[in-house]
Amino acid sequence: MTKSAADELAGFRLPVERGCPFAPPPAYERLREQAPISRITLASGGEAWWVAGYEAGRAVLADPRFSSDKRKAGFPLFTLDETTLRQLRSQPPLMLGLDGAEHSAVRRPVIGEFTLRRLTALRPRIQAIVDHFVDAMLAAGRRPVDLVHALSLPVPSLVICELLGVPYTDHDFFQSRTGMMVSRTSLEDRARAFGELRAYIDDLITRKESEPGDDLFSRQIARQRQDGEVDHPGLVSLAFLLLTAGHETTANMISLGVFGLLGHPEQLALIQADPGRTPLAVEELLRYFTIADGVTSRVSTEDVEIGGVTIRAGEGVVVSTLSANWDPAVFEDPDRLDIERGARHHLAFGFGPHQCLGQNLARLELEIVFDTLFRRIPALRLAVRAEDLPFKSDAVVYGLHELPVTW
Ligand code: HEM
Repeated sequence: MTKSAADELAGFRLPVERGCPFAPPPAYERLREQAPISRITLASGGEAWWVAGYEAGRAVLADPRFSSDKRKAGFPLFTLDETTLRQLRSQPPLMLGLDGAEHSAVRRPVIGEFTLRRLTALRPRIQAIVDHFVDAMLAAGRRPVDLVHALSLPVPSLVICELLGVPYTDHDFFQSRTGMMVSRTSLEDRARAFGELRAYIDDLITRKESEPGDDLFSRQIARQRQDGEVDHPGLVSLAFLLLTAGHETTANMISLGVFGLLGHPEQLALIQADPGRTPLAVEELLRYFTIADGVTSRVSTEDVEIGGVTIRAGEGVVVSTLSANWDPAVFEDPDRLDIERGARHHLAFGFGPHQCLGQNLARLELEIVFDTLFRRIPALRLAVRAEDLPFKSDAVVYGLHELPVTW
């Protein structure tokens, strides 16, 4: 008996293993063809709506009747166990999990830190950071080099540390704890990593309250003091989110982007000939890999009709941004990596009120890394066969554990 696409995705955990390292799992396409919105069973045993089409996905993410609050009944958690639920309920919710006015109240004060103007001022410093790590690769004289540890992780890590005023000397600590939190290690390990990271950040914010520096948190503390009192728990939550969201995602995208360009030499040649095209390449690579697939989950707060389907109040919805970004109605021949297609309207950073706060920073880092790496090491190539690369099919965000390269 042939399995239906929904059966194939039944009990799935994100990211579902991709058929080939580039493409979404074949079941995605079949589900999208069957219907832009359909029912699936999650690994937790619960059911949810699977939103596969681009238009339907945008409609859900822009609609305030869908909540991001993971503590609400019906929210599609991928692991529905008591420990996760207790942990979620015991902590003040992060910006990601707030709705409406409560959400704007925490997002608005930090938007100014991520504007294009502010980030343009950071460009020379990010360039110096990238050059520093490429220098170290070239100076080491040892090949192959694992690009994940030589470049992809340290660049966004150092950038976010400097922006937030976190001592880079502690990066090993928070990198390992963040890595553990988004991996599929035991629940105890994840809970411990979460607790340790939270305690570290709590201490950091306390220190900034008495010894301010020139960084995002010191500015937030000064602003809050002017308006009244410092919201210590709120700042701890914000720091936690920025520190965890700010490097693991970008690191994965750097590795996959380099891998994607090496696998498409004709596209790489376009940016090598004209670095003005690199921002286009960044958008297309973000679309192509869509590393945070399904992170954009919601629960309906009332009966809503989307794309001819009625989603009842209390039902969970998983918007598959990967499926949306491979929707042929919007991106012709989606399996073709084509930097000239103009992919900026992709949903890799989500859509609507929760659209990624750090997207301009991520774009800038990716652009500088791709330009610098392929300019300074034009002969860069994979040191192993593509099919032997360890892709992260065991984490919430897609990526590579290692990327051995040589030149
Ligand atoms: C390639 C890198 C990145 C990808 C693919 C990515 C992806 C996403 C996605 C899909 C969301 C939306 C979640 C939702 O709607 O529920 C999001 C939200 C968010 N991202 Fe990113 N992100 C990246 C880099 C960053 C960086 C560098 C930062 C911070 C410096 C950051 C901070 C945030 C924050 C704070 C939110 C929550 C926004 C809100 O709830 O209003 N991200 N990200």
